[in-house]
Amino acid sequence: MKVLVTGGAGFIGSHLVEALVARGDAVVVLDDLSTGKRANLAAVAEKVDLQVGSVADRAAVDRAIAGCEVAFHQAAIASVPKTIEAPVETNAVNFGGTLNVLEAARAAGTRRVIFASSAAVYGDEAPLPVAEDAPVAPLSPYAIEKLCAEHYVRVWAPLFGLETVALRYFNVFGPRQDPKSPYSGVVSIFVDRILKGEAPTIFGDGEQTRDFVAVADVVRANLAAATVDRPEGLVCNVARGEATSLNQLYATLADLAGGAPDALYGPARAGDVRHSRAVVDRARDALGFVAKTPVRDGLAALLDWARSTAG
Ligand code: NAD
Ligand code: UD1
Repeated sequence: MKVLVTGGAGFIGSHLVEALVARGDAVVVLDDLSTGKRANLAAVAEKVDLQVGSVADRAAVDRAIAGCEVAFHQAAIASVPKTIEAPVETNAVNFGGTLNVLEAARAAGTRRVIFASSAAVYGDEAPLPVAEDAPVAPLSPYAIEKLCAEHYVRVWAPLFGLETVALRYFNVFGPRQDPKSPYSGVVSIFVDRILKGEAPTIFGDGEQTRDFVAVADVVRANLAAATVDRPEGLVCNVARGEATSLNQLYATLADLAGGAPDALYGPARAGDVRHSRAVVDRARDALGFVAKTPVRDGLAALLDWARSTAG
């Protein structure tokens, strides 16, 4: 099968591309390489048609999606602070880019679009754990852009017969997540500091919790979403359904690493969600997806990978 992965040179996208190549798909990647890297696709470079361009450019999306049966739409400006600094620009990519993918899919006769949404759409108000029908209360342009895009994705199913699935990823971690920005995923930052022998800073008291899910599981959720029968605008959490506090996270990493400096503590980050945990029943019932990787095992594998690439 020929498939498109937008954002396929990024952290999650590149793992998905590898899995699709491994199962024998012909993969086109559309990525503007703004945060993605060619190096992320090094293992499959020969087998992937990497088209450098923006999802905000409809013509580029039309070219990339031609002949594709399924589109996995992962491309986004995934930084909450960037969406606060430049909402017009990020809206054009995160929302406008999604509409372009939907319309290009319709024009090209693509059968299914799978959209990378986010747990950010829930904000901080829904009672925990959060199910997909909980009230949404986005707290940032990023979350608003994902939510608006998600509504389009959902409605394109009944309106146009496009098969669509929106996957609300919780906190994804794994190899190739870039630790360089202060707004990078916390796991990537903690691992980076531990390998450098430096103390990370925990924002707040460290008792805030997240539902961490390994990137390999997120890939499996995407593959399930691509094959499930008649998804009809399905919206689905992708998580383990478990809460881990940042203090627990750091203690586990320190233990796996055979020791680490004590973490520093700083002020809580403005706009942070305090607790996050998903109900994962719909993923199990509708997609047959259950996250397999225990957080500790995923962290151990990540540390091994980070050690092997350090230096
Ligand atoms: P990432 O930044 O590594 O990947 C995003 C990719 O999209 C990059 O390769 C980037 O170059 C590309 N991109 C950005 N703007 C583009 C544009 N205009 N046109 C084409 N390509 C563009 O981030 P990630 O963590 O791999 O995120 C992948 C998707 O998952 C995003 O949609 C993100 O919002 C979503 N998501 C991630 C998490 C997480 O915990 N990492 C959680 C929820 C949702
Ligand atoms: C993450 C995703 C976001 C996604 C959301 C869904 C990243 C970068 N962001 O947001 O795209 O929509 O999950 O659930 O993956 N922290 C520290 N020290 C640090 C860095 C972070 O203590 O050096 C804390 C933060 O204050 C926060 C927690 O770690 O309390 C998690 O932060 P982060 O990894 O940035 O993720 P989210 O904000 O949950």
